[in-house]
Amino acid sequence: MEIHQMWRDYPELNQDLIKVMQLIEDHIRIRDKRVNETLKDVIHAGGKLLRPAYTLLCSQIGAEYNKDKAIAIAAALETLHMATLIHDDVIDQADTRRGNATLQTKHDNKFAIYAGDYLFSICFSILAKHADSISQSMYNIRSIEKLLIGELDQLHSRFQPPNSVKSYLSRISGKTAQLFALSCYTGAVESKASKRQVRIAWNMGHYIGMAFQIIDDILDYQGYEEQIGKPVMADVQQGIYTLPLIYAMLANPDEVSEILANDKPYSKSDLDKLSAIIRKTKGIDKAKKLAERYTNKALRELEKLPNGHYKHHLYQLTSQMLKRTS
Ligand code: IPE
Ligand code: IPE
Ligand code: MG
Ligand code: MG
Repeated sequence: MEIHQMWRDYPELNQDLIKVMQLIEDHIRIRDKRVNETLKDVIHAGGKLLRPAYTLLCSQIGAEYNKDKAIAIAAALETLHMATLIHDDVIDQADTRRGNATLQTKHDNKFAIYAGDYLFSICFSILAKHADSISQSMYNIRSIEKLLIGELDQLHSRFQPPNSVKSYLSRISGKTAQLFALSCYTGAVESKASKRQVRIAWNMGHYIGMAFQIIDDILDYQGYEEQIGKPVMADVQQGIYTLPLIYAMLANPDEVSEILANDKPYSKSDLDKLSAIIRKTKGIDKAKKLAERYTNKALRELEKLPNGHYKHHLYQLTSQMLKRTS
């Protein structure tokens, strides 16, 4: 089985992530062959597998590293992530994901919604199967609740003029950082790390998630579709005004509000004008700076964890994500 090429530099992790994917695949059992194949194609479409990788690495913080358990938790978290992406693409009306046509483009919205729901249920069936060996940690449903509240909040405030960096940060803390925090936290808890270490793992995951979403939002403005595998400038078009635009708005409120008030969908010229203002006001640079600050916070948390090989991998992975282009 092939997984994302970024793991080639981490041979052991690469092996374990393949097992994670295998476990997810084993749970997809739909009688209709075509539907079954479609779902398998979706899970094998080349996602980066970051959340399961963080779980696997953080499972080595405590003294009781149980690989099978870590793989099961990692699989459950990745399945949850994939379910949210399928639904996110319906809501965002995105036509590509991971370089492929999205489910609703190939089929329709109804199919995609059910497919997402089905993956949600797989997440819980993987957990239930390992319930006796996994403690209460993953049943931290409150996190999943916060993730969905973040998405609901974003949906609700579409096309509303971006008001503050603070509300943007609180939203991404829910919709993205929760899952990264949970990934690191569950790994640590299950390895019987100390209370303090578990707290550190949670904070580290949170900061990683914050940096990750800020970079994702930057890529939406300045990435290339072929590289990121999903549409560019899609957020503004969907009325999701993210950090680079918020900075532009703060620096040049009149001009930005005037464009944002124009008819939807925005014209090519509106989008070009917004890009130009973002460039002029250094919106991207400022957003990058903030992502860098979150990454540094994550690395400072990491410093506090016990030494080991895993720590070096966590360091590399986390600092490398700042430079990602996809
Ligand atoms: C995409 O996450 C959704 C965000 C939180 C920005 P990833 O970029 O981790 O998605 P895949 O799994 O690698 O496709
Ligand atoms: C979505 O954020 C993240 C979720 C938590 C589901 P985005 O809408 O920015 O993700 P992409 O850009 O579609 O991957
Ligand atoms: Mg989206
Ligand atoms: Mg995005």
